Amino acid sequence: MKRSIIITGGAGFIGSHVVRLFVNKYPDYRILCLDSLTYAGNLANLKDVESKPNFRFVKMDICDFDAVYALMQEEKVDGVIHLAAESHVDRSIKDPFTFAKTNVLGTLSMLQAARLWWESQPSGYEGKRFYHISTDEVYGALEMTHPEGVTPPFSTKASSGSHHLAYGEVFFTEDMKYQPHSPYSAAKASSDHFVRAFHDTYGMPTIVTNCSNNYGPYQFPEKLIPLFINNIRHRKPLPVYGKGENVRDWLYVEDHARAIDVIFHNGKVAETYNIGGFNEWKNIDVIKVLINTVDRLLGRPEGADMDLITFVTDRAGHDLRYAIDSRKLQKELGWEPSLQFEEGIEKTVRWYLDNQEWMDNVTSGDYQKYYDEMYKGR
Ligand SMILES: NC(=O)c1ccc[n+]([C@@H]2O[C@H](COP(=O)([O-])OP(=O)(O)OC[C@H]3O[C@@H](n4cnc5c(N)ncnc54)[C@H](O)[C@@H]3O)[C@@H](O)[C@H]2O)c1
Repeated sequence: MKRSIIITGGAGFIGSHVVRLFVNKYPDYRILCLDSLTYAGNLANLKDVESKPNFRFVKMDICDFDAVYALMQEEKVDGVIHLAAESHVDRSIKDPFTFAKTNVLGTLSMLQAARLWWESQPSGYEGKRFYHISTDEVYGALEMTHPEGVTPPFSTKASSGSHHLAYGEVFFTEDMKYQPHSPYSAAKASSDHFVRAFHDTYGMPTIVTNCSNNYGPYQFPEKLIPLFINNIRHRKPLPVYGKGENVRDWLYVEDHARAIDVIFHNGKVAETYNIGGFNEWKNIDVIKVLINTVDRLLGRPEGADMDLITFVTDRAGHDLRYAIDSRKLQKELGWEPSLQFEEGIEKTVRWYLDNQEWMDNVTSGDYQKYYDEMYKGR
């Protein structure tokens, strides 16, 4: 095998798309999916690649330093793409300790294991790479500003020549100061600092990327888009924080996976790249698009389910606006998002409607039996 790469969190939402892309695109790479299968890990997300000869699933906690080190030794690992994390802001508000443990100490454990393993090799850090996946939420919140006399959203030209709608004139750039507000983003920010410190202190070849909100197939239905698609289908209430005014920049998950591929192979060591869709939407407008799309695809009168929208007390410390400036990645590495939001949403809604069994297995908890059925005793 040409390379041996650990992808942590590969049974989760984004990780499963990254694993799928790497397993299929690089048959001469050994892809080791390392995941402890928390509530967010689902092996059904990987069913189509589980029997490929270059794929191995390893049930392991990233905090278990000894086990991670032994795996690196056994598999002669030369690359790490690190996605494993606790990822849901609402859970971090209830249980910040778990977030500090997994996101900070777990990342440190991965870094230290990779460092000691690579430093023990005659080739040292040559040809090695530790790629850490982070979030735009570490930058804090942006204001909704607008040019004189223009009400947002307004058209702007921040993306390589193409126009898009924005709710403010300032975007997150790679040199922006970190100002995390939630326990989730504070833990991710801390892990980003550790990754950079391992480059600066030990010379480890690290890369960090900060991405905006992802959407697409296989997302755990505690997150807005899959939760609401399922609720609209079953005509259940749609709880919207505040008045749904918060703005997020949305990126189709396969576009994120493609960016990870490009950056893993061609990104410059010690650099940070922001990844985003130049695609800002107020939550309430996303929800209206979801209702219209689900209704249309189910043959209901379009918009018939608008009355499911139920405003609830806002999330504590809810950041108003996130907006990524991904021009560095576009210019230096030639990556671009491939889908318009409406196309991506249509694909996503279709996927959840066509995969009700996947959704039922998640909501019933049956997905957690899959490991025992498939892997135990192997
Ligand atoms: N979802 C987004 O919109 C988004 C945006 C930007 C960045 N990110 C980052 O991308 C990464 C993946 O996000 P996601 O949405 O796919 O998350 P997810 O919650 O769907 O998946 C996380 C995965 O990590 C695994 N995991 C958790 N703790 C672990 C541990 N201690 N050891 C081993 N595995 C463990 C889980 O079992 C799960 O499979 C995270 O680092 C997140 O911060 C997510």
